[in-house]
Amino acid sequence: AGPVSVRAEISYVMIKPDGVQRGLVGEIISRFERKGFKLVGLKLFQCTREIAEEHYKDLSSKPFFPALVEYILSGPVVCMVWEGEGVVKSARKLIGATNPLESEPGTIRGDFAVQVGRNVVHGSDSVENGERETALWFGKDGLVAWEPTITPWLI
Ligand code: TYD
Repeated sequence: AGPVSVRAEISYVMIKPDGVQRGLVGEIISRFERKGFKLVGLKLFQCTREIAEEHYKDLSSKPFFPALVEYILSGPVVCMVWEGEGVVKSARKLIGATNPLESEPGTIRGDFAVQVGRNVVHGSDSVENGERETALWFGKDGLVAWEPTITPWLI
């Protein structure tokens, strides 16, 4: 029997409208690239209420839910899927604590945010949610499977 093929771990990461409007798109993408994860999905997207509400459905009973949905709808977001070993947990570390006043300096929220309701970026909180959120935002065929073809990198 040959090696068992296991689908690589993926995390759904999203730059929220404040991150886009503040010009942090390149900075945030850079951090994931430098860490060594592989970009397999990317788009600028004005999301619908239906998708925003589905994405945050586990929080629908929270008092901040309506404001959260309005915030996500307030401008385009950058939707990304990053792939790699341990990417879900590692992305959460790169992003930092939910409340930016508690996020460590060196994390994205720790470096760039103050308010919990304007915390710049989202990252899946479990491998299952990485799959669920990727399906929600990118659909079944929305990702690009690719392997490096240019070696060495500098010719
Ligand atoms: P949550 O899933 O708890 O955090 P995270 O984004 O770190 O996984 O909450 C989702 C988003 O809801 C969070 O990024 C910002 C918003 N939120 C508030 O606006 N107020 C709050 O008190 C909390 C807990 C979250």
